Amino acid sequence: MAVDLLLGLQWGDEGKGKIVDVLTQNYDIIARFQGGPNAGHTLEFDGIKHVLHTIPSGIFHESAINLVGNGVVIDPVIFKKELDNLEKFNIDIKQKLLISRKAHLILPTHRLLDAASEASKGKAKIGSTLKGIGPTYMDKTGRNGIRVGDIEMDDWKEKYRALANKHEAMISFYKAEIEYDLQELEGEFFEAVEVLKQLTFIDSEEYLHQAQKDGKKILAEGAQGSLLDIDFGTYPYVTSSNTTAAGACTGLGVAPNKIKDVFGIFKAYATRVGSGPFPTELFDSYGETMGRVGNEFGATTGRPRRCGWLDLVALKYAVHVNGVTQLMMMKGDVLSGFDMLKVCTAYKYKGETIQHLPYNIESENVTPVYSELKGWKEDLTKMTDASQFPQELNDYIAFLEKELEVPITIVSVGPDRTQTIHRS
Ligand code: GDP
Ligand code: IMO
Ligand code: MG
Repeated sequence: MAVDLLLGLQWGDEGKGKIVDVLTQNYDIIARFQGGPNAGHTLEFDGIKHVLHTIPSGIFHESAINLVGNGVVIDPVIFKKELDNLEKFNIDIKQKLLISRKAHLILPTHRLLDAASEASKGKAKIGSTLKGIGPTYMDKTGRNGIRVGDIEMDDWKEKYRALANKHEAMISFYKAEIEYDLQELEGEFFEAVEVLKQLTFIDSEEYLHQAQKDGKKILAEGAQGSLLDIDFGTYPYVTSSNTTAAGACTGLGVAPNKIKDVFGIFKAYATRVGSGPFPTELFDSYGETMGRVGNEFGATTGRPRRCGWLDLVALKYAVHVNGVTQLMMMKGDVLSGFDMLKVCTAYKYKGETIQHLPYNIESENVTPVYSELKGWKEDLTKMTDASQFPQELNDYIAFLEKELEVPITIVSVGPDRTQTIHRS
């Protein structure tokens, strides 16, 4: 049985959490494959809003198993808070939530290192969520990390101490003004590790192999977005994992030839939180309206998201890198009432017009070339079927499908689970 992937095609926050929740009814297993608590995945149903950071977005469905894969980095402290938030929903966490022994742990000193590194960069800072993601993946690839499986061993605290001591020396190297009380942070950390230990740890690649043999349907849930990918994103303003489709193979142990559908999610406009290039960014009333109506504030940090027109050059790139087979367009409702909509179809770059993403997309190097389309006035949020869509929205969708050469199969018209329109 094949594995499907769902991932973000822009700079994150496309609405992955919502769509994973909607699709979970079609799957037996939902598996997160990379990232960590830098992610904030929002789900809304029955009038309640939930934000998940590490736990996969299928957790509210009784029928599904949720797996945190080896490619994910886990902060036990944040994980414990997520579990606390779930307590009132009576979910059988021991049965429904499985954790790969090979997932790496975020230590308190990883978070401090993140803060020290960012502080030392000054204006060049990445705009990290400061959850310790970069330092944890650095320890993983540097072969120094501590994994979930280690906390089942007797000697793990010695390993912990050695690594934390090294981190402290590194923090002082940055000479940044970071104030902290490690003893307090460690108290909270070790308490949370005890909670983590109550959960079910597995050899997840073997579990998924067996599940595929048994005909189980698996959906891999991505975090962040393709333009934040460590290799293919707007480096160095990226996160520290492969957020693109290949990341699901390494982050779960799923073979490339077992992947079937790749669902690519994008907003009908574009947003970015944190630093880095954003060619179609708006500083006018259109951008302000997107931010206000779209409630564009980070689900993890609360920071305002930068807003801009849809960038088809970047989107095409993401479609190609991921091998997207179906597109899902989110937040079309936010654009209701815009008198016109711009879509970037090319860049002016070194005196030429180009249609691919160049090495360097800082605003001094690229100028977007726009096509202008008509906006729609109608409120989309109460619509239940694509036949109710205004002509201008149909034209917008048709324009994107023609440019991207992939069908848009879902149009989301609001944050709630029910505000999801399937197109055939
Ligand atoms: P994720 O990180 O990709 O899961 O996305 P986030 O949860 O960080 O951000 C998406 C935000 O948009 C959340 O607040 C969602 O509740 C909201 N959202 C998702 N789909 C829609 C939509 O179609 N319309 C509107 N207005 N909001 C949406
Ligand atoms: P979800 O899964 C949006 C951004 C940060 C920063 C850069 C590096 O909710 O879409 P990091 O903390 O990884 O060192 O930050 O990446 N970033 C995200 N932006 N959505 C996310 O996740 C993000 N995770 C990280 O803002 O610019
Ligand atoms: Mg998010």
